[in-house]
Amino acid sequence: MVLQSEIVSNWADGKRLAFVGDGDAISVCVAYLKHRGIVDYGPSKITVFDFDERVVKAVKRFADKERLENLDAQLYNCLDSFPDTSKFDCFYTNPPWGASNNGESVNIFVQRGIEAVAYEGDGMIVIADDDELAWPKQVLASVQKYASERNFFVSRMMPKLHQYHLDDNPELLSCNLVVTSVPGAEVPIFPSEAITDVTRLENFYGRSNSPRVRYVRERKRVDYGRAHDDEYEYELLEKMP
Ligand SMILES: C[S@@+](CC[C@H](N)C(=O)[O-])C[C@H]1O[C@@H](n2cnc3c(N)ncnc32)[C@H](O)[C@@H]1O
Repeated sequence: MVLQSEIVSNWADGKRLAFVGDGDAISVCVAYLKHRGIVDYGPSKITVFDFDERVVKAVKRFADKERLENLDAQLYNCLDSFPDTSKFDCFYTNPPWGASNNGESVNIFVQRGIEAVAYEGDGMIVIADDDELAWPKQVLASVQKYASERNFFVSRMMPKLHQYHLDDNPELLSCNLVVTSVPGAEVPIFPSEAITDVTRLENFYGRSNSPRVRYVRERKRVDYGRAHDDEYEYELLEKMP
């Protein structure tokens, strides 16, 4: 994560960066590395768009606590049309990896990134990249086709750079696929639309796991930063004689 955060800080230096989903909190790391002077470069503005209110509020709480004025977050489900925000210069997304839908879940997240930059800018897409398996190659091909059909070309790829460290696939490698808009290419003017074509949503989160959640709502907690009462109990020391 430190390696990736430094790469993103450098890549998006001085730019307005939109995160389409950010379960890994790379957005917070990027903002904080610069704030603490670990690196002297980074995005001018960062906004996280995620359907999980716990992620959104955690980003806002951290930004507030550490006075990170350039970091914010917004509750958003990428199946809905993209909110009418001011234009971003670049986007970052680590979407559901698309093994069971030939990358359609990735393309929907990428679509929202492309809309965030209004079809003009750059995108960093974190997806699987593994020589041992066929589906990562099929997904990479599908995403590159999707991007090029929207006048984005692959300007950079950092192959097999990191791993997902996921319980059900700890060894799976991932890459940074960087796409850039073709200068002078025609920019579509039609507005962002909700995803209504159900075939695009089949196996979205894995085999026979289509979307059914609009938002993950955060349940109120008494005191953030402390373990929840039902997570532990004290075994007290014997009374000292
Ligand atoms: C789903 S994870 C994917 C992580 C990893 N690439 C994987 O495949 O396990 C990425 C982030 O996207 C968010 N997310 C998932 N579905 C979403 C949706 N429909 N709209 C917006 N954010 C979503 C999650 O809350 C999380 O923060």
